Amino acid sequence: MLKILLTADQIRTRVAELGAQIDRDYPTGPVYLIAILKGACFFLADLARAMKTPSRIDFVGISSYGKGKSTSGEVRLTKDLDASIEGCDVIVVEDIVDTGITLTYLMKVFAQRKPRSLRIATLLDKPERRQRQVEVHYTGFRIPDKFVVGYGLDYAEDYRNLKDVCVLSDDEP
Ligand code: IMP
Ligand code: MG
Repeated sequence: MLKILLTADQIRTRVAELGAQIDRDYPTGPVYLIAILKGACFFLADLARAMKTPSRIDFVGISSYGKGKSTSGEVRLTKDLDASIEGCDVIVVEDIVDTGITLTYLMKVFAQRKPRSLRIATLLDKPERRQRQVEVHYTGFRIPDKFVVGYGLDYAEDYRNLKDVCVLSDDEP
């Protein structure tokens, strides 16, 4: 069963606020927005357009989740960046921070590449589930410990194209 948690309108408003905040923090740019495939693509596309500061985009592929709802705890880089980030202002764009395992791994990898600055922007945060502490600079919404889909987030590759973020439960409708 799907139940709306965040409407497309709420998301649009919040993404605009985050874009404005990033503009203030990086007045000149360019800012390298790096989305974690595949879930963060929708957020990246909207965030980049909500910003006035010039941006460049890149993508990184990570596998940390299986097909189910729980993490495997194992993180692997499946697609690397196209270009060097040395000396660049980088914002890693994520759909949701859950246990923190994915971002802890990725931030370690990216920090070694000597960017000028390195921050995280996430649309959603489930703080109750955290196993590794990660410093998140830009958070769209803090949400309860529920499995959510839509606006890029999937369950076994389904539901990514929903405009709202919805809670997916096993209950019958
Ligand atoms: P972490 O390493 O546990 O923080 O995992 C974060 C990743 O797990 C996210 O990028 C999502 O792909 C996935 N994930 C965590 N919670 C959810 C959820 O509620 N719905 C869909 N995917 C989720
Ligand atoms: Mg993801």
